[in-house]
Amino acid sequence: MTTLGTPLSPRATKVMLLGSGELGKEVLIALQRLGVETIAVDRYDNAPGQQVAHHARTITMSDPAQLKALIEAERPHLVVPEIEAIATPMLEELEAAGTVRVIPTARAARLTMDREGIRVLAAETLGLPTSPYKFCNSLEELQAAIDAGIGYPCIVKPVMSSSGKGQSKIDGPADVKKAWDYAMAGGRVSHGRVIVEGFIDFDYEITQLTVRSVGADGQIATSFCDPIGHVQISGDYVESWQPHPMHPAALEKSRQIAKAVTDNLGQGFDGKPSGLGLFGVELFVKGQDVWFSEVSPRPHDTGLVTLCTQHQSEFELHARAILGLPVDTRLRNPGASAVIYGGVDAVGIVFDGVEEALRVPDTDLRLFGKPESFTKRRMGVALARAADVDMARSNAKLAAGKVKPRKV
Ligand SMILES: Nc1ncnc2c1ncn2[C@@H]1O[C@H](COP(=O)(O)OP(=O)(O)O)[C@@H](O)[C@H]1O
Ligand SMILES: [Mg+2]
Repeated sequence: MTTLGTPLSPRATKVMLLGSGELGKEVLIALQRLGVETIAVDRYDNAPGQQVAHHARTITMSDPAQLKALIEAERPHLVVPEIEAIATPMLEELEAAGTVRVIPTARAARLTMDREGIRVLAAETLGLPTSPYKFCNSLEELQAAIDAGIGYPCIVKPVMSSSGKGQSKIDGPADVKKAWDYAMAGGRVSHGRVIVEGFIDFDYEITQLTVRSVGADGQIATSFCDPIGHVQISGDYVESWQPHPMHPAALEKSRQIAKAVTDNLGQGFDGKPSGLGLFGVELFVKGQDVWFSEVSPRPHDTGLVTLCTQHQSEFELHARAILGLPVDTRLRNPGASAVIYGGVDAVGIVFDGVEEALRVPDTDLRLFGKPESFTKRRMGVALARAADVDMARSNAKLAAGKVKPRKV
């Protein structure tokens, strides 16, 4: 049974977000609406989520001592990771000691914090179909892995990176050194380890949002959102839509894979299936074949589209699920999202054209409020509802294109 308190009172229900970007901001808004007391943590001041939370804290989340000190000082009921670069072994320690509950579990946060834990779990422990892969610590090992079977084309990614950073495609022997150097420059932590994956020539890729929540019988149930289609450029999402049409057999396989991965990640350190929350399972589809790619144990960037397509967005679903409340994953109407990049490197930019953008029928905008813009930084997103996905995609892109970020 869930009992919620009053924020800023001794009986407050307190939730701490570790990472407070645009996805965390929407989770925080959903929690605020339920009267939850929120603590938004990030590595820099005035992060998007910090602007809508009761409390803002700035620390280095990859530093175990800082993380422990903050959690012990704030004593939240739940700790909700929003990013990967967190001292997850410390979260496991605090969870095992009973100090805090981590969403979905501290184990899931550790396994998904780099590409290795989750890939080994999916492919080797669970036996799910994935691209052929190998982990390499040097240019020589990379070349050897390609020659020994990965072949061309293939994709190289730093073991720790996201949003396509440091990731590149290798079409032939001439690209290998360039890809290695690019990965070394783009990884989050420079420990020089990469994954090389055989290139999957998929027809399309989807995100299967999957929710673990408490059902009416008190047991944890798994529910699925409609598939989200998306386009990635250089490994970064630029456009997404929902629903993506799928062959029933491919949809069935996608959900089996999503269930297998989330069932496993939902197991805590004690093996109990205690993990609650929403997951974004990334899958590649060709005909009726489906490959597991990766999973976020939290809302997914391509799922921003659910702000205009579902009765409950992925952020509301996450907020409800983690609090032990019922969820409703039904689609309301087709829709699409299109990313608005900064286009400039500057602090405190302004956005022209918002008015024109919002004159596009059935559209909405999220401007994240990031204090600093970079050319390739995601600063906002346009959302469009429509009778079909094609119309929604074209309106979302039209609206996004009308927003013009510029330096003051
Ligand atoms: N093995 C692969 N074959 C084909 N495309 C891939 C492969 N791996 C990644 N990609 C493409 O690159 C995108 C980003 O890769 P991903 O592993 O999801 O990295 P990130 O963690 O940065 O999101 C994928 O969504 C897909 O479009
Ligand atoms: Mg991805």
